[in-house]
Amino acid sequence: MDNYQPATGRYDQMKYKYCGKSGLQLPLISLGLWHNFGSVDDFVVAADMIKYAFDHGITHFDLANNYGPVPGSAEANFGRILKENFHGYRDEMIISSKAGHDMWAGPYGGNSSRKNLMASIDQSLRRTGLEYFDIFYSHRYDGVTPVEETIQTLIDIVRQGKALYIGISKYPPRQARFAYEMMAKAGVPCLISQYRYSMFDRAVEAENLPLAAEYGSGFIAFSPLAQGLLTDRYLNGVPEGSRAARSSTFLQRSQVTPEKVEVARQLNEIARRRGQTLAEMALAWVLRDERMTSVIVGASSVNQLADNLQALNHLEFTAEELNEIEQILSSYKSYIK
Ligand SMILES: NC(=O)c1ccc[n+]([C@@H]2O[C@H](COP(=O)([O-])OP(=O)(O)OC[C@H]3O[C@@H](n4cnc5c(N)ncnc54)[C@H](OP(=O)(O)O)[C@@H]3O)[C@@H](O)[C@H]2O)c1
Repeated sequence: MDNYQPATGRYDQMKYKYCGKSGLQLPLISLGLWHNFGSVDDFVVAADMIKYAFDHGITHFDLANNYGPVPGSAEANFGRILKENFHGYRDEMIISSKAGHDMWAGPYGGNSSRKNLMASIDQSLRRTGLEYFDIFYSHRYDGVTPVEETIQTLIDIVRQGKALYIGISKYPPRQARFAYEMMAKAGVPCLISQYRYSMFDRAVEAENLPLAAEYGSGFIAFSPLAQGLLTDRYLNGVPEGSRAARSSTFLQRSQVTPEKVEVARQLNEIARRRGQTLAEMALAWVLRDERMTSVIVGASSVNQLADNLQALNHLEFTAEELNEIEQILSSYKSYIK
């Protein structure tokens, strides 16, 4: 238990945007707890990042049942941080969790069935110590479970009071359309759609992003920094302690290719002219699209989070800057995916 008191004036430092056609506003920058908040990580750093985020108007924290490692430990740590520091502030926070990826042993521990989602949300509520999640997501379309089954479960979760809003993540367009239609008919519209989106991965521009907008769903981008590739982290090799240097299977050393580093170097030059770091510009670039509600950043230190928040100071691009970025990205198109 420490004596943390949230900063006064914290809401002046952030911009908020309505999430799709809902009445819920999200901060332009949200914080994700996929990496660096697990039981293998430094708890003090994790707690400091949550406090720093809240002090700077980040009201939205994104979790999933399996975040760690070990799986579940990010939720447990977040719950402990809330309990020790944020008593009385629950109503100022939007906390999301998800289910659908591998979490426990056996045939019910990692898919999008009713059995998995119902058990999972109860586990996540217990781990975090929360009474409800603000947003609960189906983490993925699993390719087998009928979408009706998953979506009906999300609707029931809202009706049971375990979540206020629901969302989908990584659904292919056909299944996403079905989900949007079914939720709307049930009177529990899809608040938000969560997909990977960055200068290095623009797949959602073709279908998922316009589709979400068509149905009035908000859109939140994950891995907007391409897990660190769109920052200065790898400009001079793979530093010790970075995600690519760790044993994580998510960003492997082999994915830090000379071509990607060269693109980052060229983009970094544009960022420098704009008076920003590459990380700041990469976030501003994602947020340039009107349909984007928020970006979920990851961070391994308060300094990185502080840098990312600076993006808010310069979100606009000139047509020339956007053009220049397009040219760099298109000349390396085959290397950056
Ligand atoms: N729905 C889904 O399936 C899904 C999938 C993935 C992620 N997500 C969500 O999205 C969140 C963000 O994902 P992500 O962590 O991949 O996002 P990201 O913002 O693209 O990458 C974060 C990593 O980039 C590096 N970094 C961040 N800021 C930096 C800065 N200013 N300067 C230098 N390096 C910086 C850090 O790497 P180092 O650790 O090397 O320092 C940090 O861990 C997750 O926490 C999760 O909530 C959802």
